[in-house]
Amino acid sequence: MPEFVRVCDVAEVPDPGKTLVEVEGEMVALFHVEGAWHAIDDVCTHDGGPLADGELRNHTIACPRHGAKFDIRTGAALTMPAVRPTRAHDVKLEDGGVWVRLRATAGGDGPAAHALPVAASATPTGAPAPIAPAAPTSSAAVSADLPLCEDSVREILKEVKDPELFVNIVDLGLVYGVTIGASADEPGKQHVSVDMTMTSPACPAGPQLIADTKRAIGRRPDVAVVEVRIVMDPPWTPDRMTEAARDQLGIF
Ligand code: FES
Repeated sequence: MPEFVRVCDVAEVPDPGKTLVEVEGEMVALFHVEGAWHAIDDVCTHDGGPLADGELRNHTIACPRHGAKFDIRTGAALTMPAVRPTRAHDVKLEDGGVWVRLRATAGGDGPAAHALPVAASATPTGAPAPIAPAAPTSSAAVSADLPLCEDSVREILKEVKDPELFVNIVDLGLVYGVTIGASADEPGKQHVSVDMTMTSPACPAGPQLIADTKRAIGRRPDVAVVEVRIVMDPPWTPDRMTEAARDQLGIF
């Protein structure tokens, strides 16, 4: 079992305040808010952003990279694009110092403050709760009868869902643009280009989303080629989600 490690003097961190400390080789974000001390991993579970560099408001820290928010008391992920809790650690005060003991897993005691009741809530063991898949849509069937245009392609793409969030890529705001032109190789058929972004440059779902996009559009008999271009500028932010996606994720 890990031991408590003295990380700083009590007087070093104002209230409210935060600092970055090292505990047994791991970087930990330490917070002093309303007379209490809290410690969580300095790692955003979306894509590794440094939480100690984020903006602290009451008991919430915002990841400086894409804005995911975490509860500093529990490590719970509160908003997209993070869906898993980061580890919270034990803190005690002794001999004028602040002491931190690493916990083995995410989650633990403290208020269950989850603004994402489905996507981000943690089980008692700290593992992400299962997410209910959205009801299947009939977008593809409907769109197959429509003329090929940006709107019909976007309808088709509503069947492509983020594998972690189970929200389609159109409502997530990942589809930046659709271009349709005549195929150079197959007369009478179309070349469809989709400009798409990811919630982060290293999004692990990227290859699957690209493959699913090509497969979904490529089913149309009037499409010869589907090209997917990954665009990271402008970067994705949660503001790009539709109301439908926000409702599905429980973000208000
Ligand atoms: S790395 Fe933290 S929100 Fe993306």
